[in-house]
Amino acid sequence: MKYFGAVLEQRLSRRDLLVAGGSALAAAGALPAIGATARSGTAGAVYAAIAPTREDALRLSPGLRAQVLIGFGDPLFAGDAGLTARDLRSLKWLDADAAARQGRRFSTNNDALAFFPSRSRRDTGLLCVNHEYVEAELVFAGVSADEKARARDRDAWLRANPEAVAWMRAAHGVSVLEVRKGLRGWQVVKGAKATRRITADTPMDIAGPARGAALMRTVADPTGTRVLGTFANCAGGKTPWGTYLTAEENIQDYFGGARSWAAASTDEATKRAYRRWPLRERSAYGWDLLDARFDVRQEPREALRHGWIVEIDPEDPTSTPKKRTALGRFCHEGANTILTKDGRVAAYMGDDAEFEYVYKFVTRDRFDPKVRAANRDLLDHGTLYVARFDADGRGEWLPLVHDENGPLNSRTGFADQAEVVIRCREAADVLGATPMDRPEDVEPSPVSGRVYMALTKNDSRKDERRDFMGREIDLGPNAANPRPKNDFGHIVELIEDGDDAAGTRFAWNVFLLAGDPRNTAARLLTLAEDLAPGGLAREDVFYAGHADRARLSPIACPDNLGFDPSGRLWIVTDADTGLIGNNGCFVVPTTGPERGLLKQVLSAPVGAEVCGCEFTPDGKTLFLSIQHPGEGGNVDAPVSHWPDGGGLPARSAVIAVSREDGAPL
Ligand code: FEO
Ligand code: CA
Ligand code: CA
Repeated sequence: MKYFGAVLEQRLSRRDLLVAGGSALAAAGALPAIGATARSGTAGAVYAAIAPTREDALRLSPGLRAQVLIGFGDPLFAGDAGLTARDLRSLKWLDADAAARQGRRFSTNNDALAFFPSRSRRDTGLLCVNHEYVEAELVFAGVSADEKARARDRDAWLRANPEAVAWMRAAHGVSVLEVRKGLRGWQVVKGAKATRRITADTPMDIAGPARGAALMRTVADPTGTRVLGTFANCAGGKTPWGTYLTAEENIQDYFGGARSWAAASTDEATKRAYRRWPLRERSAYGWDLLDARFDVRQEPREALRHGWIVEIDPEDPTSTPKKRTALGRFCHEGANTILTKDGRVAAYMGDDAEFEYVYKFVTRDRFDPKVRAANRDLLDHGTLYVARFDADGRGEWLPLVHDENGPLNSRTGFADQAEVVIRCREAADVLGATPMDRPEDVEPSPVSGRVYMALTKNDSRKDERRDFMGREIDLGPNAANPRPKNDFGHIVELIEDGDDAAGTRFAWNVFLLAGDPRNTAARLLTLAEDLAPGGLAREDVFYAGHADRARLSPIACPDNLGFDPSGRLWIVTDADTGLIGNNGCFVVPTTGPERGLLKQVLSAPVGAEVCGCEFTPDGKTLFLSIQHPGEGGNVDAPVSHWPDGGGLPARSAVIAVSREDGAPL
């Protein structure tokens, strides 16, 4: 069965249109018309907004429905009863075989979703899902809901339950599933040919400019070419040739012993590699207590082998995942692709940390739509760029390229391209990139080509200049991040010059300044000039110019983004639920008179963030991740019982949202 194709065909046809109408488009900003032409008849259904809730339930706009597709512990293969919410109420399941069993089951904290439609079967496809991290209190009975108590007891608990470390490694990574829509909605096909779990122990190749570099070599892998596993996977993406991209984000939480290693070591090159992305003495998860790979004193360079974009071929369950180092090393949120006018591939990426940057990678070679294998290593060669946003609404993509005659050379500390990609943040500093408010998903619209970036929040933004994460910067607001103490977040729209993703110059504007328009003490701004840095308050909001508070849904902390086939932007959130209410899913037109008219269409259960945001090509199904419902409580005293109910602890799960009448969303 072949799965790639539909996404690509959609993008190619759009590109053909754009090439045909290119000049008019660039001159007159005629993007809405192009979008309408490309997708006439699919204007997108209208939904009544729901109000924010704090209910422990999925709530949806009238006319929408949702089903749970698969959740934490569910078996991927026949003959396995799985790990149930009921099982979680004790630790009996955590025995010496628990890790092996987990390696054949769906795991927890599902995040990025990518759907690859089958070419030969209707309503069938592969779904790739990554599993970002494990929250011990939501999995292991007896672990405190209180963060301080949990930290205090952690080491003793892990030593008493050493199976937990191997189990956690098996619970990270990726699940590849075949899914099929039938009379009872979407179902997972257990044991399908492509079914696969990738974990924190799965062998992977290091590909691209950092392959074999001195900084990539460890005791276990003196060649610097082969690494075990992926973890801390956040958002993701997919390539036009039908592979899954999964983004390694907060890998710093997995390693311990960094301070004592640095005090004892004279390895200045390795120390420098950590300057802009430091590790800690005490890890967040304690794997280093039981596994030397995560102890910096024993493997000082292992952490440099994580923090990359990983490419996985979901069609071949025996394929070796590849870490694509040409795309740089940072807190990767995701990698969303689109074709350039000349048929190369651009991937947009965020570095999800305070005052970090937005990146783009453009391949050197063209995508071959006819010979899939010809694209196998396309992501190993190309140009990585970082964005600078200027106050006049323009911006530039700055090439992160080693060149003895350019700014990144041996005199500025970069001996070759391997050092540029490994110390990517530091290289971006040299070029003068703009520090952003935690860039999460950066997603090009497949209909208009415009790029939207979720800047989830940054409550550290304030007027001062000081050392921050290894370099001195101005922490004050800037034009693209205009709000001080930005704890509601915002969305920036980027329009590439010539509407070509290969371009190095662009225009940008603030599309949304998130917050609560119901709060009449807050200003609802309507003009772009109102958004200049310096004059904004934490509560001020902006919805692309809309002035009617009653028609706008409150929203906090946009995280992942998606587009339906009509080109409307869908947004899911990861906010502190004290700000507005439970996290949710929102839809907003980006063109026409309703541009900016944002409506909430889904509210998630207590404690959950919503991620994923993946449409089937027919627009009839939206797959979403409900990640960590019950956060704030624990297994013993759950604050959410979703999805099983009956007083049971909550489980992360994937849902399929559709219209009750079956029409496209
Ligand atoms: Fe894992 Fe950037 O959220
Ligand atoms: Ca995310
Ligand atoms: Ca997030």
